[in-house]
Amino acid sequence: MAQRPIIILPDPKLRLVSAKIERVDDPLRRLIDDMIETMHEAPGVGLAAIQVAEPIRLLVVDVAKKEEEPDPQVFINPEIVWSSEERATYEEGCLSIPEYYAEVERPASVRASALDRDGKLREVLAEGLLATVLQHEIDHLDGVLFIDHISKLKRDRVIKKFQKAAKRAGDGSHVL
Ligand code: NI
Repeated sequence: MAQRPIIILPDPKLRLVSAKIERVDDPLRRLIDDMIETMHEAPGVGLAAIQVAEPIRLLVVDVAKKEEEPDPQVFINPEIVWSSEERATYEEGCLSIPEYYAEVERPASVRASALDRDGKLREVLAEGLLATVLQHEIDHLDGVLFIDHISKLKRDRVIKKFQKAAKRAGDGSHVL
């Protein structure tokens, strides 16, 4: 297993719509293992393949608490098949938008279908944190970021901040 570099805003790849996965095979399972390691090391509770620059419909999630055993879950070609009318608000962050957090309101529960790492179709009823993480990660597969769910004013501000940081890095200057 190996960690993979995580791409960050304003990398245009984050806006790609990821492609459906046609075959669940060993190379895919190696990517899955790399993504789980990358997510755990970051640390984060979810990671979409596009965040390691692979534009395919795959994500990994682990919402186990720190004192619990790790419990990584794999979702291949995930789809939300039902969302509750009830909504919930969580403070969200994203490994591709480091050190920025904002409250986002989404459906409180969702039912999602996906293939697992053996290519078997399964359905999950997700509530609480898992529901939020799944929706956040599935958004990534469609090029949508959590900042798209906040006000345009706040979004423009955070995008500008990351554009400036990328430009500084590109100039070869250093923040001391
Ligand atoms: Ni994210």
